[in-house]
Amino acid sequence: MSRCRVCFKPIKKFMSFGKMPIANSFIKKDKFKKQYFYDMEAGFCKSCSTFQLIKVPKAKLMFNEKYAYLASTSNFMKKHWSNLSKKIINNLKNNKNPFVVEIGSNDGIFLENIAKKKINHLGIDASKNVCEISKSKGINSLNAFFNEKTARKIVAKYGKADVIVCTNTMHHIEDINGVVKGMSDLLKDKGTIITEDPSLKEMLNKNAYDQIYAEHMYIWSLSSINFLFGKYKMEVYDIENNKLHGGCSRYFIAKNNVKKITKKVQVHKILEKKLKINKLSTYINFKNKVNSLKKELKSKLIQLKKRNKIIVGYGAPAKSTTILNFCNIDYKLIDKIFDNSNTKINKYTPGKSLIKIENSDKFKKTKSDYCVLFAWNHQKEILAKEKNYLEKNGKWIIPVPSLKVIK
Ligand code: TYD
Ligand code: ZN
Repeated sequence: MSRCRVCFKPIKKFMSFGKMPIANSFIKKDKFKKQYFYDMEAGFCKSCSTFQLIKVPKAKLMFNEKYAYLASTSNFMKKHWSNLSKKIINNLKNNKNPFVVEIGSNDGIFLENIAKKKINHLGIDASKNVCEISKSKGINSLNAFFNEKTARKIVAKYGKADVIVCTNTMHHIEDINGVVKGMSDLLKDKGTIITEDPSLKEMLNKNAYDQIYAEHMYIWSLSSINFLFGKYKMEVYDIENNKLHGGCSRYFIAKNNVKKITKKVQVHKILEKKLKINKLSTYINFKNKVNSLKKELKSKLIQLKKRNKIIVGYGAPAKSTTILNFCNIDYKLIDKIFDNSNTKINKYTPGKSLIKIENSDKFKKTKSDYCVLFAWNHQKEILAKEKNYLEKNGKWIIPVPSLKVIK
């Protein structure tokens, strides 16, 4: 019997995605036969409302010296995190010697703004390569997994934190209780924790099944975040929603009864209740819709291929690994995928898909009839950048929330 990672009660599996490779493990040709696969099964815990994967690969297999996701590949993301830093800097202006900690600091996309203002800070990331990029930008960085032990070491060396930022990271970690306990030890009594992750409400609304993969072993909601932080006497006092990654929620968390709970939190609670976020039947409906999307996308590509159309892809996000492997789409259907991450160019998409990734600067010169936008969450930025494609009669295929062709 499997147990929930948040509350440790038995958990119910509601959907199986089949064998999956690690989403961010873009590979070279010589590694095709040496890939790691796991059974991707989604479960929902009714006791604490946490959506999670039942089994996941060991952390070291996912977060290591070759981590492929670089946050700074998107200008929108740079702007997004610089806006958050402005807000934080403004709120800290009356604090004496403030200390900002980021857990999961990636390539320093957020902390570089804090470092530039000469504010005490520390970035922690489990993947060595991204940590090195941060360091090269002058950011104080620690290559480690964050847990209670790491928290103790940080407190001993630097003292407690005024702000702990942990964005797109809470879903990466199996021992999530250790992380939240560590955060509560590291946080000053009046401090704030800011987390931001893809929202379960939006995933359900958008049928965004491609948010699910081992590195996203949880899809958080206000209900589940409140349960988890509540275990350590903390609570969500404010919430902001944005459209990034297909819809994220940013939670502002403090120790119990320190901050006034905003109306936005109450409203969000009601919306989650209306969506029946705590009912297993909601997830069965989701599964049925996702299975239809799978059939539709695969048959559309087969149909186009039969008509000798050239199909390529744009963006090789981790999300594309779920779409390609779950829908059984491979190099025979999609010729290549264009992406601007140096960690992915000239490698292949993992699992059975094995599609070559090429530098997105070649997209304009490569002839194709249809392009699947795997990075659908960056649609505005990419379609603006590649506006000639439609003029040259190219067509975009958008895989979620419903299959759409843009002509
Ligand atoms: P993203 O959706 O940010 O992340 P995840 O891996 O968590 O699903 O990934 C977007 C991918 O698209 C990333 O590999 C970079 C790529 N990309 C481009 O190639 N060109 C662009 O203009 C943008 C915005 C992204
Ligand atoms: Zn639970």
